[in-house]
Amino acid sequence: MFQVLVTGGCGFIGSNFVRHLLTTRNDVVVTNLDKLTYAGNPQNLADVADKPRYQFIEGDIADAKIVRVAARKKDAIFNFAAESHVDRSIHDSTVFVRTNVLGTQVLLDAAREMHVSRYIQISTDEVYGSLGPTGYFTEESRIAPNSPYSASKAAADLLVQSYIHTFGLNANITRCSNNYGPWQFPEKLIPLFITNLLRDQAVPIYGLGRNIRDWIHVLDHCTAIEAVWREGKPGATYNIGGECELTNMQVTEKLLAILAKPHSLICHVVDRPGHDARYAIDCSKIKSELGWRPQIHFDKGLHETVRWYAEHSRWVEEIRNGEYRNYYQKQYGQVA
Ligand code: NAD
Ligand code: TYD
Repeated sequence: MFQVLVTGGCGFIGSNFVRHLLTTRNDVVVTNLDKLTYAGNPQNLADVADKPRYQFIEGDIADAKIVRVAARKKDAIFNFAAESHVDRSIHDSTVFVRTNVLGTQVLLDAAREMHVSRYIQISTDEVYGSLGPTGYFTEESRIAPNSPYSASKAAADLLVQSYIHTFGLNANITRCSNNYGPWQFPEKLIPLFITNLLRDQAVPIYGLGRNIRDWIHVLDHCTAIEAVWREGKPGATYNIGGECELTNMQVTEKLLAILAKPHSLICHVVDRPGHDARYAIDCSKIKSELGWRPQIHFDKGLHETVRWYAEHSRWVEEIRNGEYRNYYQKQYGQVA
């Protein structure tokens, strides 16, 4: 049996990863350490929470005492826990530094102290900054973050690299492109637009909608992380991408078509300060070294994601009736 610690397992990607481990493998026992911030929702794992191979600890990754307890006798740590939304980091970056940087340092020290044999840091392509119209991020690209969110993730990556170099920690960093799929908090582009369109509410496109993101289904991200855990080279960084570049306007048009909604629901709003123009991942390293590749075509994944949000209106409503209302008002100057 592998005993693993997943942090941030009640968030979007973490909950998909925990479910993936518990439902596709019978040799893994999962401890999930999550602070249950606005983005952490125990409902995301309600269908697997009573499995005997699952344990939940409510706690903060920046709290060394609780992290030491959670990391005891673990074979691996997967660090998903983070403040993850760029727009919130523009409003206030304090908690981004605390969780994403200090929290990572606390986990790294616990991994050393508790002799955890493997540490996997879930990072992002945003640490590379922004691309022009051509070219791709490779693992050799310069770290050049532009937002407080990506700067805090880059700082965490540098800490992980320093623990690999200085202490010989057996760690990997994964840097993935934009995820979409079930259980994503509706502050991010795709679930925000789906949940608004389902209510015939306008969708706020920043600027002209020409910014490009490389989209990957969350389950493809999960299988990539599992491949890195299984066969990743000690100390290596792996880029993960969906090989699916789209402008925000193209994504929006696909959503309008799936939901049969009019273009009049598009609303151009003031652009995000420092908005990165384009992200595009070269994931040839993980493909050639580990034999991984993305399996879920964007159009199919997007249809299924739209259906998932339509079928989970209670989950959405509970979020929209909570702290989200204040955030929406602050970010968009309107009621959610
Ligand atoms: P999310 O915001 O949906 O979830 C974050 C989770 O972390 C929540 O459950 C929250 O309660 C928990 N958390 C926050 N602060 C914590 C703390 N101090 N201690 C313990 N738990 C805490 O985020 P996500 O979209 O699932 O992203 C997960 C990870 O993947 C992040 O590290 C993010 O940087 C990275 N990532 C995300 C994307 C994406 O498109 N969403 C892409 C690449 C990488
Ligand atoms: P987001 O989902 O916040 O992810 P990230 O900024 O980490 O890539 O945003 C994806 C893209 O969509 C990004 O270019 C910003 C844009 N966007 C909008 O146009 N309107 C919105 O309301 C949001 C949340 C994002």
